[in-house]
Amino acid sequence: MGIYSRLIFPRLLDLSMSGQELSGYRQSLLASVGGEVLEIGFGTGLNMPYYGDGVTSLTAIDPNEGMAQLAAQRVQSSTVDVNLQTANAEALPMVSERFDAVVCTWTLCSIPNIEQALAEVFRVLKPGGKFFFIEHGLSPERGIGTWQRRVTPLQRRIADGCHLDRPMADVIQSVFEQVELKEFYSTGLPKLIGYFYQGVATKPHL
Ligand SMILES: C[S@@+](CC[C@H](N)C(=O)[O-])C[C@H]1O[C@@H](n2cnc3c(N)ncnc32)[C@H](O)[C@@H]1O
Repeated sequence: MGIYSRLIFPRLLDLSMSGQELSGYRQSLLASVGGEVLEIGFGTGLNMPYYGDGVTSLTAIDPNEGMAQLAAQRVQSSTVDVNLQTANAEALPMVSERFDAVVCTWTLCSIPNIEQALAEVFRVLKPGGKFFFIEHGLSPERGIGTWQRRVTPLQRRIADGCHLDRPMADVIQSVFEQVELKEFYSTGLPKLIGYFYQGVATKPHL
């Protein structure tokens, strides 16, 4: 991993993703998360303030160790017990059916093999467990989608692998049959990056 990814990008990410608008989405998504929780793509720990009393333990993974250094203070000042590990979502180092909930915020855009990562999320959830997500992705507006496809090669270079043009609903629904989903433009962002998919997918009981 290069210096840009490890040292510079985590700082840029922390600055650009700690604003009020995104914090509001974090709060609304995480309000009903509870039990034993896994967060994939933990980044700099910006979700930490929004985990409630119902969370009994939090395991978090991110492949970029530069993120963990910035996350350390948020982890230490939290009342939630956090186990932060360096790992890829495509190969989760956890036993199957371990978690009540998996959380993912603006991370599926950056994971190289998104299908494999979602298969792993499904595997580690208990039957009846829930996958809580908010992501940006492909807009249904044709003109915007065309530009998202054009700009994605550049975006991947400057934003550490981030794709603007992933059809998040289709990918999530290819793994989870039961998905409650809202799609909308975030008011504070350009349409290219601000088409959001927010929801909760449930792993069925056998
Ligand atoms: C845009 S950041 C979002 C960080 C955090 N979830 C947030 O909401 O602030 C995307 C994160 O995905 C992580 N990431 C990239 N590839 C990954 C992978 N294969 N598995 C898990 N996380 C990954 C990056 O290191 C980065 O921390």
